[in-house]
Amino acid sequence: MKNLRPTQSKTIPTLSKSTPLNDLELAELREQFPILSRSTASGAPLAFLDNAASTQRPKCVIDAMSDCYQRYYANVHRGIHTLSEESTEAYERSRKVIASFIAAASEREVIFTSGATASVNLVARTWGDQHLREGDVVLTTIAEHHANIVPWHQLSERTGCRVEFLTLQKDFTFDDEAVQQKLHEFRPKMFAFTAASNVLGTITPVQKWARWAREIGAITLVDASQAAPHQPLNVQELDTDFLVFGGHKMCGPTGIGVLHGKEELLESMPPFLGGGGMINRVSVDGFETADLPDKFEAGTPPIAEAIGLAAAAEFLQQIGLERVAAHEKQLAQIADNGLRSMEGIEVIGPSMNHKSGIVSFSIDRVHAHDIAQELDHLGIAVRAGHHCTMPLHRYLKKTSTTRASFYVYNRPEEAHRFIDAVEQVQKKFTPSGRKRTRRGSA
Ligand SMILES: Cc1ncc(COP(=O)(O)O)c(C=O)c1O
Repeated sequence: MKNLRPTQSKTIPTLSKSTPLNDLELAELREQFPILSRSTASGAPLAFLDNAASTQRPKCVIDAMSDCYQRYYANVHRGIHTLSEESTEAYERSRKVIASFIAAASEREVIFTSGATASVNLVARTWGDQHLREGDVVLTTIAEHHANIVPWHQLSERTGCRVEFLTLQKDFTFDDEAVQQKLHEFRPKMFAFTAASNVLGTITPVQKWARWAREIGAITLVDASQAAPHQPLNVQELDTDFLVFGGHKMCGPTGIGVLHGKEELLESMPPFLGGGGMINRVSVDGFETADLPDKFEAGTPPIAEAIGLAAAAEFLQQIGLERVAAHEKQLAQIADNGLRSMEGIEVIGPSMNHKSGIVSFSIDRVHAHDIAQELDHLGIAVRAGHHCTMPLHRYLKKTSTTRASFYVYNRPEEAHRFIDAVEQVQKKFTPSGRKRTRRGSA
């Protein structure tokens, strides 16, 4: 089969250094995202700073999916006809691309799911049901998204196991000593933690925590939803047992996510959903499970979505994940500095040394939804609420926060605009006026 590689609408120059993108590169990259040049309902030019919720897709991803539908779409793994063979080849090629994206030992370790949430649920329902009993512990952190909490609560309801939480230090980071102490105190069977918090931005030392977990015999599940889109990941170096992420936060489509698992672990687990595609044989008496990775992919998989996800991974690799990280960090630093210099504003997250491109904050006496609404009026899309982290918000004694999250296509100018807009919002709601302490403008 020829020419199934998605055509890149525009080539991004490959630079090896971990430097933020320059103006020229950024302008070229933004051409891939026509949506970024639109305005919001108020007519203001859009600054899209809601990337932790979902990113935008470049033309090459849209083209790859549209190419599939227009030229060779058919169901995979089933038909002995040209279109089905071509679709199957493209679908399995996507698995190889994702395996290389996270440096997996084999593509058999890459399971396509519908998203990070589905991946955690798969592990909880299979490995969890198989191994956890009353009195066993799942250790997680207070900074998790509900996707990495609720499936463990559900597991607890089914098996009687307990869910325990690591808490934060005052600076919104985790204390290594406390992590080690809790691992030894609880001796969890599962240590499920985020690689980067979707609210605080706090980055966790995945490799080190996975090593400590292994030393006490715990299995690790890392929620890389906010890491895979933003930094290089090497699951073999990290030595994690399970790692999950979704496509829509990394320029890919919705409806697709990844579960990476070590092959021997996946082999030892029972299948999750039953149906077509996950069996070798079925009779009136029972069934025989298919080999990896099909064993965990019952039913028609998200075919065009997998192809789109692979195009997104290649797009990010072409830019270079180090450069993506450096670029976002530069923008978040502008936002973080600006907010920290304003009286009456609290940044909810650690210093930039410990976090990714996420900057959450609150303004004294102003509701997060009012902030987000006013920012939207000024053209700035941010998220407000609990961000699916109710336990974290309760722990921080907040009902809601406002979050700006940057991605590789954002411009430094947008980070400055964001700060000026927050200042305007603050003035509107607290007219007595607040000052910026360091940047000087009253
Ligand atoms: C840290 C984190 N984990 C999990 C999820 C859920 O991901 P998905 O939409 O792929 O199920 C999100 C999405 O907001 C997230 O930020």
